[in-house]
Amino acid sequence: MKINLRAMRLQFPQVELNIYNKNNPIEVPILKSEIATSSASPNIIRHITFDLSGTELAGKFFAGQSIGVLPPGVTDKGKPEPLRLYSISSPSYGEDGAGNHHSTTVKRLIGEHWETRQLYAGVCSNYLSSLRPGDTVKVTGPSGKRFLLPENSEDFNYVFFATGTGVAPFRGMIKDLMKKGHRGSIVLIFGAPYRTDLLYESYFRQTESENKNFHYIPTISREDPREDGSRPYVQTQLIDRKKLLYPILEQENTLIYVCGLKGMETGIIQGLAAQSLSDYLVFKKPLNGDPYSWDSDIMKRAVKPGERMFLEVY
Ligand code: A2P
Repeated sequence: MKINLRAMRLQFPQVELNIYNKNNPIEVPILKSEIATSSASPNIIRHITFDLSGTELAGKFFAGQSIGVLPPGVTDKGKPEPLRLYSISSPSYGEDGAGNHHSTTVKRLIGEHWETRQLYAGVCSNYLSSLRPGDTVKVTGPSGKRFLLPENSEDFNYVFFATGTGVAPFRGMIKDLMKKGHRGSIVLIFGAPYRTDLLYESYFRQTESENKNFHYIPTISREDPREDGSRPYVQTQLIDRKKLLYPILEQENTLIYVCGLKGMETGIIQGLAAQSLSDYLVFKKPLNGDPYSWDSDIMKRAVKPGERMFLEVY
């Protein structure tokens, strides 16, 4: 199955980048900040909406792009805190339908120092999560020109793989596709440790109940063991939900988007190769044997996503 993407017109929208940058940020108010997980979750994840109206950013973001946030204060070395990028979780038309209100999905980062065992809090995620409606924040953007829906989005099917807050861009993209009355297949495979960590659950469930072409596959690693007792991950759905996924993936107009934890792409690439879906991949060196036995370090050098697979991992 060789495809000619040029003939299929995989075209991306022209985006304006960095209208505001770190030397020239814009201060905007927070419009809303809501808990995005179930109240029983020990993780604190917020859906935070910025009011961009009246700025050059209004109407300029596309789903899949990121907004930059400049937290106040200085680092241990006395330098200003660097800019952090957050994927927008709103559709291109914004939460308000006019591109003025854009959101992001922020998880409070709390960790333990490996040596001192002291608790530490991630600077920017905690700064943003503590802001209240009306507080202002310095932002930049838009950022990102590769992780976007094609301009001719109606010509394609989509398989989205997300872990955790990696689902953010897919909420926006799915809303964009639904608004356009997309008729092709759309699958969202979303991995979370517990059911209480699922994000935007009611939106995805409702969208699935109203659209036969949208399939939502929550993958709860620590609650729903696979038949052999192992943890399910987004990549294991390539096997466990093969009946649904393979007929979509084998179509030459299907695009794969992956967003979330670094490393999640390894299992997805192995799963695709194991099912002879190698058109999504580019091999710089041939790899032999069972894809599931490939060494992840060797894979990093030998194989990368091809033109129909988009990756954003962190
Ligand atoms: P696990 O339960 O084994 O940690 P969050 O970012 O909210 O913590 O969610 C991450 C989800 O992704 C969890 O279900 C986690 O599983 C899963 N996960 C962890 N590592 C990988 C990986 N390499 N590939 C795919 N999923 C992963």
